[in-house]
Amino acid sequence: MTANGNTGNLRQPRRILITGGAGFIGSNFVHHWCDRYEDDRVVVLDALTYAGNRANLAALEERENFRFVRGNICDRALIDAILLEEQIDTVAHFAAESHVDRSILGPDAFVQTNVIGTFTLLEAFRNHYPTLADAGKDGVFLHVSTDEVYGSLGADDPAFSEITPYAPNSPYSASKAGSDHLARAYYHTYNLPTIITNCSNNYGPYHFPEKLIPLMCINILLGKPLPVYGDGQNIRDWLYVRDHCSALDTVIHKGKPGETYNVGGNNEVKNIDLVNMLCQLMDELAPDLPVRPSEKLITFVKDRPGHDRRYAIDATKIKTELGWMPSVTVEEGLRQTVQWFLTHESWWKPLLSEEYQAYYQKVYAH
Ligand code: NAD
Ligand code: TYD
Repeated sequence: MTANGNTGNLRQPRRILITGGAGFIGSNFVHHWCDRYEDDRVVVLDALTYAGNRANLAALEERENFRFVRGNICDRALIDAILLEEQIDTVAHFAAESHVDRSILGPDAFVQTNVIGTFTLLEAFRNHYPTLADAGKDGVFLHVSTDEVYGSLGADDPAFSEITPYAPNSPYSASKAGSDHLARAYYHTYNLPTIITNCSNNYGPYHFPEKLIPLMCINILLGKPLPVYGDGQNIRDWLYVRDHCSALDTVIHKGKPGETYNVGGNNEVKNIDLVNMLCQLMDELAPDLPVRPSEKLITFVKDRPGHDRRYAIDATKIKTELGWMPSVTVEEGLRQTVQWFLTHESWWKPLLSEEYQAYYQKVYAH
């Protein structure tokens, strides 16, 4: 048997706990896993914050091997009960407060969920882990993290690699950095089989409409201004969310405990260029737009405080050691994403709630 429970070509069914599985990446990952590994037991733990949406998992609710638990990752007793009852051997930890702008408005929840919540999960898994060993099973704790922990790059700096020093600049990235350090320490101190992934910006289906790409798609459809921060020259590396899911699947099955893997799309794009690409796609694909061409809606607004200038990922390690590469170009991925928002108005309309409007006012009022 390998370190991760595979016996040659015969894959042993897993019992996986997916935290944050009702959020954007988590729900894409739950679909990915359920589609591929029908014999696995899949338990989702999610607090259903503003970012969590049970509708993302509606198609799976009736499955025999699926269970949804509404709860908080800071609730140790609940986690202990789930690990024991469900005999969990694999944890895929997505649950987090994930939006930089919200972390600037109110960092408390970020420290609570991202640091204390991750600590609580690690402690619970440390307590549970010996029962797996007694049963002759291996375990994995996958800690899903972000490239933002590495800070900001200058135009000519080399991309982030796994040995780039951490230099987080926002309360969000600082809290994720803290959780990464805990996950790392639990491997080195307690030999818990933790693996960390640091990924670039994701986009795709089920993306909550306050992040750049879904916000722009929806504002174009509604004929509302497209708020671009600062000079629009900030650069992000974009990865289609389904490629991220395949990377995490690869890491769970083939990754080495105690290691970190950077995951990226090889797609560095300036924000203003990305927004222009979305405008062109919408002009081409949407039959009835209130404002045409959509680029007329682009509005430069006050910059985000501490706005990181550039992120870029060197994904050589996951490619050479585990054989993973992204399969979707940013042009293809954006086209699919625009199509998805065009055909899923019933998903995103209800999310533009009073709470959403209040948040929008706070961030964009100036
Ligand atoms: P998201 O905000 O869309 O979803 C987070 C989910 O976690 C929600 O369903 C929410 O209800 C749940 N949650 C929040 N606090 C919780 C708590 N205390 N207990 C239980 N559940 C809780 O986030 P996302 O964009 O899907 O990101 C998922 C993970 O991936 C995060 O850890 C994030 O740091 C990381 N990540 C995100 C990106 C990105 O581009 N979105 C890139 C790299 C890494
Ligand atoms: P975002 O989707 O919030 O992801 P992150 O901050 O984690 O990279 O933002 C992506 C980029 O888009 C970032 O440089 C900030 C910028 N941005 C805007 O210009 N306008 C907006 O309204 C938003 C939400 C983001």
